[in-house]
Amino acid sequence: MKDLSTDRRRFIKQASMGTIAASIAACTPNTEVLQSELTEDPKSSPIPLVISTWPHIADNQIALLAVQEGRLLDGIEKGINNVENNPKDQSVGLGGRPDRSGIVTLDACIMDRKHRAGSVCYLKDIKNPISVARLVMEETPHVILAGDGALQFALDKGFKKENLLTDQSKSEYLEWLKTAEYKPQINVELHDTIGMLAIDERGDISGGCSTSGLGYKMQGRVGDSPIIGAGLFVDNEIGAATATGMGELVLTTLGSFLTVEFMRQGMTPTEACKAAVMRTIEKNKETYKDMQVGYIALDKFGRFGGYSIQPGFQYTVTYQDHNKVFDAQSYLPK
Ligand code: GLY
Repeated sequence: MKDLSTDRRRFIKQASMGTIAASIAACTPNTEVLQSELTEDPKSSPIPLVISTWPHIADNQIALLAVQEGRLLDGIEKGINNVENNPKDQSVGLGGRPDRSGIVTLDACIMDRKHRAGSVCYLKDIKNPISVARLVMEETPHVILAGDGALQFALDKGFKKENLLTDQSKSEYLEWLKTAEYKPQINVELHDTIGMLAIDERGDISGGCSTSGLGYKMQGRVGDSPIIGAGLFVDNEIGAATATGMGELVLTTLGSFLTVEFMRQGMTPTEACKAAVMRTIEKNKETYKDMQVGYIALDKFGRFGGYSIQPGFQYTVTYQDHNKVFDAQSYLPK
């Protein structure tokens, strides 16, 4: 475990975050912090570290290996690729649930320590949207490519088209068509998105987010996951956050950006996630009880946390040879 007591001074100097550090130090973590001291004590936070929404242990381990080798962005990309490539995962990449027309469309974004960002939305026939998003970030002057343009870009970069609708997702879709009732489901199959954040040994932070979006969404619907500030936000001087759940609620509060801004004001990651969830609830008083939104956050000291509206949201933290799945605190009781 790396002791951050000396590095903390280095971060503060390098990142010119004296006022932020002071406010974090002054912050009394006396809110409902149910996780271990590890998460709240800057001196004992273990870095490098990877955190992701939902129980994604194998994916975090893949990510951590690259991060430990100093390949922070590769870690985010490869960790998320592992979920995208899994046909049994019906919320992300290959095997994702289709829209109401039976078409699988994928959304993803990535953001790095240099404040660069890349995103694709409404991408068809390519199973690794996070990799395409990374190339948008690294090789184009743009941040977001959508639909046919995103597909053409991916093909130009050598990605191969494939049918993303697996037999399992197709048969569930055909079953759904019998009633075609559209109702958001809370904590669908334990997750609906992979959001992943990582901090390396230097204290640099990056993140990514990938999803097939809401199952049986309207054709053309894009959620929060490819939108910088909504599904993901990274500010390397402060920290990062990513979202899961009902994208429409995350979009209208720019929840990941908001979470990072709360950390900028001195909140711990858990406090910041909770404050962002409370904003969502305040703005959606009529509907929030039937919806799930969850955030995870990671700060510059390697502290982490999560919070959600509904119980049942979990997140996974991986460092050294440890994998820990946390039950996030929630606004509504179990
Ligand atoms: N959070 C994923 C979505 O709403 O598309």
